[in-house]
Amino acid sequence: MTAALLDTFGRVATDLRVSLTDKCNLRCTYCMPAEGLPWLPSAELLTDDEIVRLVGVAVSLGVRTVRLTGGEPLIRPGLPGLVARLADLAELSLTTNGLGLTRLAQPLADAGLRRVNVSLDSLRADRFLALTRRDRLDEVIAGMAAAAAAGLTPVKVNTVLMRGVNDDEAGELLEWCLERGYELRFIEQMPLDPQHAWDRSSMVTADEVLERLTARHTLTPVERGSAPAEVWLVDGGPARVGVVGSVSRPFCGACDRIRLTADGQLRNCLFAREESDLRTALRAGATDAELAVRMQAAVRAKKAGHGIDDPDFLQPDRPMSAIGG
Ligand code: 5AD
Ligand code: SF4
Repeated sequence: MTAALLDTFGRVATDLRVSLTDKCNLRCTYCMPAEGLPWLPSAELLTDDEIVRLVGVAVSLGVRTVRLTGGEPLIRPGLPGLVARLADLAELSLTTNGLGLTRLAQPLADAGLRRVNVSLDSLRADRFLALTRRDRLDEVIAGMAAAAAAGLTPVKVNTVLMRGVNDDEAGELLEWCLERGYELRFIEQMPLDPQHAWDRSSMVTADEVLERLTARHTLTPVERGSAPAEVWLVDGGPARVGVVGSVSRPFCGACDRIRLTADGQLRNCLFAREESDLRTALRAGATDAELAVRMQAAVRAKKAGHGIDDPDFLQPDRPMSAIGG
């Protein structure tokens, strides 16, 4: 048996994103309504043992890197214990909104976590409040510093720019990150909001971001692997900045990712309309070999691309917070 997660376009999945919860302690306007979303029933959430088992099977099929996501992964109880078990299986990183990092950065680093990406869309307290509906900017900033101090480096900062909302902050955010040694990446806004309010014209494109940055800095391209971010050295380096042009510069052809939702559904794409129900199989007593066969079948069904530009494009039923970023 070839132990790989291969699709019909020749891509091999080696990166697994695991959502640990669909809940979050912020309410970013492009992600959740103020009142939150109907959360997944807790009986359907994978236990730590179940996550470790499924990640183990994925690793036996060639997965090498695992990223923990949410919702907000830091709100999962007992996270350092889970991280310690997963760090034995794969290179582990985590995407967070930063809340709780002041307390958790060191225990997570000690447990074997390698790096964090922290989401931050504005450095202005009033805007942060308007964007996330919570007045917690200072905690996020302190969390980033705690991550750097704990060696979870390079600390990467994820920013979604929105026209007329925070797009005037691109330059400031970059200076701020450069001063602190953080690596900033701008992410194009994708149609994954539960409100279905995304529209292409309010999306700030990768080209626009680059135009703004090159007005102030010399950017030298760094070779692009399979990573979705295009990365540039800033003013000759070593500082870097990245742009993830998921919509305008899709990287689907080089995608090496698959996703496991907090309720145990394997997704071969953020935009997939089908999932493979690993939780039910696992709870019905499936063996590792049977789970592996299911994973391979799910990956084989992966489509060529996200199809956002297709006239019949449909947003996935799950919002981003229930898929994992
Ligand atoms: N498009 C792009 N990025 C998004 N994020 C959340 N929703 C979207 C979207 N629709 C980002 C968050 C965070 C990461 C988990 O995904 O800002 O950085
Ligand atoms: Fe929470 Fe992230 Fe969604 Fe913001 S974007 S509400 S931090 S899950």
